[in-house]
Amino acid sequence: MKVRKAIIPAAGLGTRSLPATKALPKEMLPIVDKPTIQFIVEEAKASGIEDILIVTGKNKRAIENHFDSNPELEQDLEKTGKSGLLKLTQEITDLGVNLYYTRQPYPAGLGDAVYRARSFVAGEPFVIMLGDDLMKDKLPLTKQLINDYDKTHASTIAVMKVPHKEVSKYGVIAPDGNIAPDLYNVKNFVEKPAVDKAPSDLAIIGRYLLTPEIFDILEHQKLGRGGEIQLTAAIDTMNKIQRVFAHVFKGERFDVGNKEGYLETSIQYGLIHPETRDALRKYIKELGKKL
Ligand code: UTP
Repeated sequence: MKVRKAIIPAAGLGTRSLPATKALPKEMLPIVDKPTIQFIVEEAKASGIEDILIVTGKNKRAIENHFDSNPELEQDLEKTGKSGLLKLTQEITDLGVNLYYTRQPYPAGLGDAVYRARSFVAGEPFVIMLGDDLMKDKLPLTKQLINDYDKTHASTIAVMKVPHKEVSKYGVIAPDGNIAPDLYNVKNFVEKPAVDKAPSDLAIIGRYLLTPEIFDILEHQKLGRGGEIQLTAAIDTMNKIQRVFAHVFKGERFDVGNKEGYLETSIQYGLIHPETRDALRKYIKELGKKL
């Protein structure tokens, strides 16, 4: 079956990015001039995804409005002859994918947010794309996972090598031999292991391709640490019943969900954005001399 559906969970509290995220979802924080969630939707589209369900929380309005048209703004841009900006604005409404929304009433964990997509997914394989993780590679990471699925018909989770001292921030896999250069069998998936107990340095990053059986497991999933329904625990349970592979991502990952990562991402993207790159490069060079 073709993978055509994606879920973007965007109902977390974003506590690491406060106070910016008090009234604004962190997925709406801009990188140069584009909210992170737009990068995610564009990655989905470039990967052949047709339908996207965004799981939002209390502050959902900004996300829905961003992907909606803004006639007043468009009229003004037209009147003042700003055709470039008009095109840029209209492209967001005209992305060529169907967007759907649902709400998670309490931020009861990533597993709970995903469970709310059960009827949207309706028995098909699907991807989960986290709104605060940007990925850069020749082929979009979501498309890489879909290509794996087309060969194996199995769930496949994106992982990446991270510095050993950082493993306790992530879900981590215990690899069990590989079936292709970048595709591993997995013994266990462990959520936020202690640094000295981590089975590897391969951390789960924000893209998952799952078969719909995950919903039966999430339905009976017990609350984990912090009273949350953990997706990693559900994936580990599923791996005991059907194969779940890990795909090692070799591209670049930008974690926008914390203040330092957000600033680094903004600088990196600012250095390639045509409107900012030259001035920013000059500024950084001068700043470097002063620091
Ligand atoms: P995170 O743990 O990175 O997001 O979840 P968070 O909880 O908002 O962030 P902090 O730790 O408080 O700063 C990964 C993704 O899952 C979503 C988040 O919006 C984020 O995009 N999420 C998380 C939900 O949709 N619901 C939840 O209950 C938890």
